[in-house]
Amino acid sequence: MVDYEVTVNTGNRVKATTSNNVHIKLVGTDGESDRTLLKSTVIFRGSVSKYTVSCPNSLGELVLIELEKRPSKILPEDSWFADKVEIKSPENDVYIFPVYCWISDRKTHRYREGKALRIFEESHSLGQYAREQELSQRSADYDWDFYAPGVPYTIKTDDPSTLPDEVKFSFTKKTQFAFTAATALLELKLKGLVDNQENWKNLDDINDVFRNKDTPLSDYVQEQWKEDWLFAYQFLNGVNPNLIQRCKTLPENFPVTDDMVVIPDGSNLSNELQQGNVYLCDYKNLDGMPANTVQGKQQYLTAPLVLLHKRQDDKLMPIAIQLKQTPAEDNPIFFPTDSTYDWLTAKIFVRSADFSEHQLNTHLLRTHLLAEVFAVSLLRNLPMVHPLYKLLISHTRYTLQINELARDALIGPTGLFTQFFASGGEALTKILERSLSSITYRSLCIPDNIADRDLQDVPNFYYRDDGLQLWSIIFKYVQGVIQYYYKSDDEVQQDSELQTWIGDIFEHGFLSQSQTEIPQRFTTVPELTKFVTMVMFTSSCQHAAVNSGQYDYGGWMPNTPVTLQRAPPIEKGTTSEATMLETLPPINVTAQGMAAVWLLSRQSLDFVPLGNYPETHYIEETPCQLQMDFKKELDMLAFTINNRNKSLEIPYTYLDPKNVENSVAI
Ligand code: FE2
Repeated sequence: MVDYEVTVNTGNRVKATTSNNVHIKLVGTDGESDRTLLKSTVIFRGSVSKYTVSCPNSLGELVLIELEKRPSKILPEDSWFADKVEIKSPENDVYIFPVYCWISDRKTHRYREGKALRIFEESHSLGQYAREQELSQRSADYDWDFYAPGVPYTIKTDDPSTLPDEVKFSFTKKTQFAFTAATALLELKLKGLVDNQENWKNLDDINDVFRNKDTPLSDYVQEQWKEDWLFAYQFLNGVNPNLIQRCKTLPENFPVTDDMVVIPDGSNLSNELQQGNVYLCDYKNLDGMPANTVQGKQQYLTAPLVLLHKRQDDKLMPIAIQLKQTPAEDNPIFFPTDSTYDWLTAKIFVRSADFSEHQLNTHLLRTHLLAEVFAVSLLRNLPMVHPLYKLLISHTRYTLQINELARDALIGPTGLFTQFFASGGEALTKILERSLSSITYRSLCIPDNIADRDLQDVPNFYYRDDGLQLWSIIFKYVQGVIQYYYKSDDEVQQDSELQTWIGDIFEHGFLSQSQTEIPQRFTTVPELTKFVTMVMFTSSCQHAAVNSGQYDYGGWMPNTPVTLQRAPPIEKGTTSEATMLETLPPINVTAQGMAAVWLLSRQSLDFVPLGNYPETHYIEETPCQLQMDFKKELDMLAFTINNRNKSLEIPYTYLDPKNVENSVAI
């Protein structure tokens, strides 16, 4: 007889303990062990338990293990979460089998040895069989669902509770999320704000919505929200840094002339356009979108054009705003020289349009929904033993559940958007559809995106500075891992699972729209490297950049109104403080909007920062070393960003790697 020393690591998470009987079978190239009971009454969470499995002969090289859990006679069936199993063979070889799964049923679960294997490297028939079985089960567990025409497919599930256990919120996250949402809502109810449909009589009263939830930046925004420089600053470093672009020629539908605008230091608009000092934000994506009806009242959503000028002192300032796309007499162009309330009202309409554009296009579609597509495709097409599964699985954590919750509580029939926000209802899917058809692959890759918007040299653009650094650190890590596994373009082409993965993304995420230029298959190692970098960047950094500041900039409602109740002014000189208060959302809508952005800006108790991998899926030295180097580079960047932020009036913290979560999880 020969002995195998088996060490079982149980996850240190709530409810991971099992009192059921766990059986193991070892499968090697030369045979398999008996199905053997791991003898203990209870396997506790966080425990490391040792067992022996004896066999008549050596099993050769170990290929996989089978785990089964059965209830004992007296104790009820429970769930068990194993992290990994380590096995020392009689030849003194150590094999590691990553598990990281809940075992709740009585089925046989197979786990492969940790060394990554592409499909064309499978030489053992049982390995091949396990691979096929795993993917066939996963295709059933993670099926696509049609959501709306022109919108990416989603995970098929009735509600979050029916998602597979592996992708659900942890107990900690679930409890915290529910508690945070409930306390915010309770506070609003206690203050009588939830049912109060009156308009604000005084802006200062908005302070009473949440007295204890301000952040230093939300306080600052409350003080400074009327300032032109803060209005302009948000296009670079607020929650929607993806709209602004350099403008060398004015769009035909925005007829601003030299004599209309005041440019300091004796220059004029034509000169400044030529010099590259003029920038444009064009909300054409919202043009013609039918605004929602909220509490029986028609709301207003505009598609503005904003012109900004970079002054000699490097400050970016707005110089003209047109609220609708088609120039007309009843669509005046507003300037900072107009009356205080004309100009402020124009800015409020832009900020409200920005809320819709940011939430639906920049945030929901371009991070949440795409991250879901990447996650579902990964789970359907790549087995655990695949090197890219190991690379990307940590970047899918909680994405399916948070999106299901958003589909229910935010954009579903009774969700906040539908009930209270200007772009809810009919406009919502139309905006998503139009946004998806205009996505390009280049726009998802920050170096191309910045180049295409011609923003390489705009001063004080921290989203760009930190984002480009993060992209290059992620790229280096991804390149290292991919080049380790794929020695030639041939190997990429030969990997049928990889090709199915990208094909699934193209079909269900981008609806086979070839103008997006999303790859439909991979031919070279560099192509694969760039795409995987984009997936990691989108699921972590891009989401953090557009998510984390929601309360900072939206916590003071007038800076980011979720809807507007009056039509945009059609002539100048018709606005006042009173019309502004009638334009802004009523009390209950304000309160609901503020509660939502507060909940969605909260960092979770079990937040995992970018580059931290609590699950060890890789066992080979090279990828493990690359992960450590990746983390070191991120730590160095965090240090640099921290130092830079010390001298900034508004520290830009959203892309500090310590604040970036590995995945779209909130
Ligand atoms: Fe988010």
